[in-house]
Amino acid sequence: MSQPCVNIGMVGHVDHGKTTLVKALSGVWTDTHSEEVKRGISIRLGYADSPFMKCPKCPAPQCYTVEKTCPNCGEKTEEHRTVSFVDAPGHETLMATMLSGAAIMDGAVLVIAANEDCPQPQTKEHLMALDIIGIENIVIVQNKIDLVSKERIIENYHQIKEFVKGTVAENAPIIPISAQQNINIDILIDALETQIPAPVHKVDKPASMLIARSFDINRPGASIDEIRGGVIGGTLTEGVLHPGDELEIRPGIKVTTEGSTRWVPILTTVSSIYAGATKIEEATPGGLLAVGTYLDPTLTKGDSLTGQIAGAPGTLPETRHQFVMELHLLDRVVGVTREEKINEIKTSEPLMLNIGTATTVGVVTSARKNEAQVSLKRPISAAIGSRVAISRRIDSRWRLIGVGVIKS
Ligand code: GTP
Repeated sequence: MSQPCVNIGMVGHVDHGKTTLVKALSGVWTDTHSEEVKRGISIRLGYADSPFMKCPKCPAPQCYTVEKTCPNCGEKTEEHRTVSFVDAPGHETLMATMLSGAAIMDGAVLVIAANEDCPQPQTKEHLMALDIIGIENIVIVQNKIDLVSKERIIENYHQIKEFVKGTVAENAPIIPISAQQNINIDILIDALETQIPAPVHKVDKPASMLIARSFDINRPGASIDEIRGGVIGGTLTEGVLHPGDELEIRPGIKVTTEGSTRWVPILTTVSSIYAGATKIEEATPGGLLAVGTYLDPTLTKGDSLTGQIAGAPGTLPETRHQFVMELHLLDRVVGVTREEKINEIKTSEPLMLNIGTATTVGVVTSARKNEAQVSLKRPISAAIGSRVAISRRIDSRWRLIGVGVIKS
């Protein structure tokens, strides 16, 4: 399998079939944490790599498959391109995870179940999030068509068309599928091939990686000479990375000495790089990577570095404890049954802010109509011009209310 060249997000309302579709496209079940299996919903970001295969004999779209032999003619298929899927949770309480996942998506599949009316609350909220984060390459999937009549599929199609009118997904193709019964998966791959191309990345820049997950891969009770260093998972946005390269991670770790607290960047060296199960000697931007380091694994355990940036030492954006952002608020709250008007941001209110893969809470220290200054509970490493997805607490849940751009 070659290194994935593009990250495709799976977004949509809870239980509409995102995880099942990732499985149909890659053979990997992304809900693997025991709590997720118990509750039957995705909680953390799941990811999986899939080589799209192409039959050299059949025409498009029938030529596309994830199988090694063509399901139509039995010919041996050839590897076309490898994609990484980022499976975002659909439950309304997990919007922060969805938003940090969206930061690493080059395009997205909006999964809509045909057996429910469209739009459901998180169908709407996720589409709004794609719009806010600036993801324009979208394919809509009408899933679970095996459960409903042809008339219902057509009615649901019209609901979808009406719902996406005037949004970033207005012209997105709508593909009827059954993820569970493997219906129209070839047509979906064909649509992904044309709608979600691999982005052109700047490989001549210093390496910069958004960290989406971090792990301690050691088994409990492993002996000291078996212990492997901490692993970070995410995507390179610029530059290339090799085993042996030095790495800086920002903001790093919180150090408290004599009552005062500082955040200290972490320095380490890359020990190995994996793209899926394949060990690679050079990682380029696009696709999800697991980067092994020589760090003490307690530093990377349980996603503790999620939201940080790793890259060539001395080149990362500065650590910010506060910033000023330009505001673009939505008119109404989406993702709730009662869509209230969004009021202006006020001084002292707490906001949930998603910048890249980072989620932090910022308290507004000063606010004007189009601008707000926030003081962060947890610092971030971000450049001027970075986008910020802004959520406000409404009826005890964080709701997306707009986008900001870091000015200073
Ligand atoms: P979250 O990640 O928790 O938001 O859910 P999800 O969108 O990933 O949904 P998931 O893939 O877990 O599917 C939810 C349920 O729908 C499961 O019981 C699936 O077996 C079922 N399902 C998914 N796709 C199809 C389909 O095409 N047809 C039918 N009949 N059932 C499906």
